[in-house]
Amino acid sequence: MNGTATSKLRQRAEYTHRYNTRLGRHGWLRLTPAYSLRIVEELMADCGPNLRVLDPFCGAGTTALAAANRGHEAGTVDINPFLVWFARAKTAMYGSRKIMEAETAGEAVLQKALQRRIDPVEEPPMHRIERWWSSSDRMYLRYLKAAIEDVSQNDQVRDLLNVAFCRLVIRLSAAAFNHQSMSFRDAAQSELDLSVDEGELFRQELRFVTEGAAYNPEGNVSVVLGDSRRIEDCFGEPFDLVVTSPPYANRMSYIRELRPYMYWLDYLQNGREAGELDWQAIGGTWGVATSRLGKWRRAADVRLPDQLLEVVGQIAGSGRSNGSILAAYVEKYGEDVAKHVASVGRVLRPGARAHYIVGNSVFYGVLVPIEKVYAALMRRAGFEKVEVRPIRKRNSKKELVEFCVSGTWSASGATSRIAPQRQEASAARASGGEPQPSALPAAVSIVFGTP
Ligand SMILES: C[S@@+](CC[C@H](N)C(=O)[O-])C[C@H]1O[C@@H](n2cnc3c(N)ncnc32)[C@H](O)[C@@H]1O
Repeated sequence: MNGTATSKLRQRAEYTHRYNTRLGRHGWLRLTPAYSLRIVEELMADCGPNLRVLDPFCGAGTTALAAANRGHEAGTVDINPFLVWFARAKTAMYGSRKIMEAETAGEAVLQKALQRRIDPVEEPPMHRIERWWSSSDRMYLRYLKAAIEDVSQNDQVRDLLNVAFCRLVIRLSAAAFNHQSMSFRDAAQSELDLSVDEGELFRQELRFVTEGAAYNPEGNVSVVLGDSRRIEDCFGEPFDLVVTSPPYANRMSYIRELRPYMYWLDYLQNGREAGELDWQAIGGTWGVATSRLGKWRRAADVRLPDQLLEVVGQIAGSGRSNGSILAAYVEKYGEDVAKHVASVGRVLRPGARAHYIVGNSVFYGVLVPIEKVYAALMRRAGFEKVEVRPIRKRNSKKELVEFCVSGTWSASGATSRIAPQRQEASAARASGGEPQPSALPAAVSIVFGTP
């Protein structure tokens, strides 16, 4: 990318999760990691019909839902079980009976919760929970959760109620701007306004959720709990298109971001679990993950691009107290991405186009040119026509930019992990005709805090 191209870039809000908040199901929960539906739509605009679209880093399921709304079949993976639950709920097909059942169940939940006709659940064991919710709001949420569990089975009705519950969890919180990654207001100030019917807030959230649920996607979606470093373990049929946004090497922890939901919905029991999950995730380094980085060494069989090794050396040699740990963070990020990129070809049909939305980062003044790293890894793995396109400035720091790195899968000579007849069926779907004989595809934040 040249200097002129970057200097003309703007911080385009329409390319961030903010664009999604009013778009039906896309707005169900606001997750900062989510990227914009608009980017996904643009990348899919010129593609043919009936594709199999892969997002190896599902997050809130933006790609999968957008693809299914266009009639494609979608497959997506995330390592975070909460996000897998959420993406499944967000991309499911809901019949009108189920939606009505959810609305009726919502009223029953409110009656039980408001009249205290049930034992409340235990308070989630979240660190400094009193900063998040006032004691009366915590109590209300505990009754509400108990009532949801009592009134619904473990099914679609409960999913819709729980999405509404998550929306209320964040709406009642003292997190500034009603967002989990922000700072806190005084929890006492965020107590429910007693002039507002307590139940009305939950009703509003549920209405928003059921309105979105009424618009069903056309294509099927498969959301897999798995690890994109071994994506061949997750799917049995090859894909025609990849649209994804992997974690960035920017010290952001998705577990930390999502902890209010994860604690309330029992996906987390304590800080140790949070740190463990973050250590499993690419780019995560919260709690225990930070101390593990100190001992981490790159696997002998993973080769990283020179551009990355160079910046790792510069960060390590910066003379700053956390230089070596940040260098390990960036190097491990590189290793994880290298594993993913080496694995993704095993689930692609030859000719499949892959788009990675990635953001660069700066540590101690050293720019990590992650777009070049992705491009180098993709070429090495067997992608052709690899291109890097700047998309937008990330914030007011002029060097922080988001890029789209694209390539076409065309490696030859090695073996796929997917059965040949499945490949042909998929190629046929992509070309809109009968199965054609096809060449087999080749196999080719450090957040220093307390969870
Ligand atoms: C930038 S977010 C994706 C956001 C998504 N595009 C959206 O719109 O919601 C990256 C996601 O990758 C997931 N992730 C991290 N490491 C992973 C791994 N090894 N395998 C699968 N998913 C992983 C994180 O949990 C996070 O949800």
